[in-house]
Amino acid sequence: MRRVQVGIVGAGPAGLLLAHLLRRAGVEALILEARSREYLETSPHRIRAGVLEWGTKEMAVMAGVGDRMLREGLEHKGIYLAFDRALQHVNFQILAGHGIWVYGQQYLVRDLIHHHLGAGGEILFEHEVVGLENLEENPVVVYRTPEGQEKQLACEFVVGADGSHSLARQCIPQAKLHQKAYPFAWLGILAETRPAAEELIYASHERGFALFSMRSPTLARNYLQVSLEERLEQWPEERIWEELNLRLGGVAEARPGTILEKSLTPMRSLVVEPMQHGRFFLVGDAAHVVPPTGAKGMNLAFCDVAVLYQALMAYYRDQDRSLLARFTSEALRHVWQAEFFSYWMTTLLHTLPDPFEEKLRQAKLRHLAESPHLQRFLAENYVGLYTSGRYAGNLGN
Ligand code: PHB
Repeated sequence: MRRVQVGIVGAGPAGLLLAHLLRRAGVEALILEARSREYLETSPHRIRAGVLEWGTKEMAVMAGVGDRMLREGLEHKGIYLAFDRALQHVNFQILAGHGIWVYGQQYLVRDLIHHHLGAGGEILFEHEVVGLENLEENPVVVYRTPEGQEKQLACEFVVGADGSHSLARQCIPQAKLHQKAYPFAWLGILAETRPAAEELIYASHERGFALFSMRSPTLARNYLQVSLEERLEQWPEERIWEELNLRLGGVAEARPGTILEKSLTPMRSLVVEPMQHGRFFLVGDAAHVVPPTGAKGMNLAFCDVAVLYQALMAYYRDQDRSLLARFTSEALRHVWQAEFFSYWMTTLLHTLPDPFEEKLRQAKLRHLAESPHLQRFLAENYVGLYTSGRYAGNLGN
């Protein structure tokens, strides 16, 4: 049976960053990933969020994988809010001392794979994990090779980083799932056109929420709040552009362009507690899901990895198990902070079915527009002062 110090299930941002950091520190990690490298790097179905908190950007740089991100990513000072037919800029750099970085998640995954393999790291693509055994004492990962052969990997620790539909999650006995579903979904498009503005616009309109984001100066990424029953066939291209512009209320223009990808995403919040069992740990979406409104998903994955990496290094350097024992309680601080902010952004910007709650929401939005205190609250949370901001600087060897 093959042996490794740390076995990692899943080659998403969390699994890749952890493997890369461990390898740099001399700890042997092996990633098992069910899908192919090509799928991870190029499938349009893998288009995910694209906003990095400043601390996440710092972590990528410190991990030695930030070269292309710094070259091709876009630094934004803040965001725009559009409602009541007015456009208001919230300057994060002034309010919270930092901006944000716009760079697609799948680009960062591509860079992580490139750097990890280039440094001699190993990723077993198209190897599906079918079982995790003996996680208290001597963990074993059971997996199937592309040829259909079943094999076993003996590990000192196992990390579940297999995303929001995680199977690894089921290996935490008596796990509590804290969850919430929202009564709407997002229709997302990626289109070859100039973005509606030079920074993101979060638009709240009586017809529903709309978001105007980007991947580059020529690639727009836009979203519309739609009902949960909606189907993609009901949204021909002209209808999407018309609706996007209606919800902008005339304060900017979404110029139609070729739509490269179209998808529907239901919105939910989920936290798994505890995030560990014996010698097994969950990181990233496997442990928690946030609605995308606060752009926190990948940032939280990096935060989890920062905490787990330090805990594993305390164990391998000093035989100190105390940080590993405290992994869940440490991680849940940033997790619930981001859950709270994502819920706040989501319920602030989407039209709500309950008429009383909808009136409250409009009052909150007007309050935000007028209050520098609330804008600072938005800025601090959006740039991640209490999430990645707590760990930026911790990843050195
Ligand atoms: C995106 O660019 O895909 C994006 C940006 C901000 C969000 C969510 C998604 O809040």
